[in-house]
Amino acid sequence: MKSITREDKLSYYEDHHEIFDSKAIDTRAVHVGQPSDAIHGSINVPIHMTSIYSQEDCGVPTFDHMYGRDGNPTRDALEKCIASLENGKFGLVANSCMSVSMLAIHLLKHGDGMICIDDICAATGTYLKKIVKPNYGIEIDYVNFRDTKNIEDCMKENTKMVWMESPSNPLLEIYDIKAVAEICKENNIILVVDNTLMSPYFQNPLQLGATIVIQSVTKYLGGHSDLVMGALVTNDEDLYQSMRETCSIMGQTVSPMDCYLVLRSLKTFPLRMKKINKNGTKVAAFLEENTQVDKVYYPMLKSHEGYELHKSQATGGAGLVCFELKDADCEEAKIFLKSLKIFELCKSLGGVQSCASCPSVMSHKKMPKEEREKIGIKDGLIRLAIGVEDIDDIIEDLEQALKKIQ
Ligand SMILES: Cc1ncc(COP(=O)(O)O)c(C=O)c1O
Repeated sequence: MKSITREDKLSYYEDHHEIFDSKAIDTRAVHVGQPSDAIHGSINVPIHMTSIYSQEDCGVPTFDHMYGRDGNPTRDALEKCIASLENGKFGLVANSCMSVSMLAIHLLKHGDGMICIDDICAATGTYLKKIVKPNYGIEIDYVNFRDTKNIEDCMKENTKMVWMESPSNPLLEIYDIKAVAEICKENNIILVVDNTLMSPYFQNPLQLGATIVIQSVTKYLGGHSDLVMGALVTNDEDLYQSMRETCSIMGQTVSPMDCYLVLRSLKTFPLRMKKINKNGTKVAAFLEENTQVDKVYYPMLKSHEGYELHKSQATGGAGLVCFELKDADCEEAKIFLKSLKIFELCKSLGGVQSCASCPSVMSHKKMPKEEREKIGIKDGLIRLAIGVEDIDDIIEDLEQALKKIQ
């Protein structure tokens, strides 16, 4: 068999990259990082089940890798593809979104400070409160990002990182990513944007000025509720190398099988996002017209306070739709949820299946009612994660469940 040199392989990847890098996201999701296999011609990236790699000389790898904790060709393909979807240069995947969040936070040192949105998602919030602040000696200030002056007022000499989401989870508050990025740039501060709720299909924080964008791949990129993974993308090579090294040292690697599953999911990612967005928009409009519903939270509704801002930085609303049942207590919210037949009763989002949850009796159950209501989570708040099912079936299911609490 003709042997393939490292140079042959690199130029093969580079040529392939050049063809697709300027194409539309629908095309990039299918092709970037995934040329047909150079030896067998298989058109899908093989699942490279190996923990070790051959070396052509002592300490010199035959191709790219020497040990599975540091890298894997199936993972390389996925990282290239996700970086391209986020319109960034360097991608890194790890075994959950919390893992990539940790890699970003590890850029900070004891005594550094970070500023966070005050309605940060529960998973990251718990990590910051229970581990980062007490154990790593990082000073954390929580600020309302609606007025970006609050961020400037909170800046101190030790502030090294700003952390935000837009929309926030679950109340879908919209914050001005570009304005925050400008403040961060002026002050030489790293801006991390958790883009999970929008996915790279609807919003590209790097193009709005973010330093690092992170994704829970578990959600829209994975898309089938069958794996847990996180990704980060940046254009800053030094930060990337530092996070990559931490990832290897800490062993936050992902299995080649899971990388393959995500590559497979990415091929239909644009199709899924279009359908989810269409369904989400119709569900939000249906709920807004319903007399049993008090308030609907969906950033692509004209009635949403952040509508204009969201439209200026994102191209869709995706699938998270929240609403308040009128005068409902926790028991009525539970009856509604248990009456749903198509929606799964669970708290995640981003899969092909529609899911429903009630934060007051699920994700925020342990929080005292007064505290919970202060952050806007009322007893009757319902969180829907819309999937790809037929829209008439979804609406019929919501209608029949609403009738159960009339
Ligand atoms: C916005 C957001 N970021 C991060 C996470 C954590 O993701 P993972 O479970 O993949 O670590 C979640 C999970 O719900 C989320 O909604």
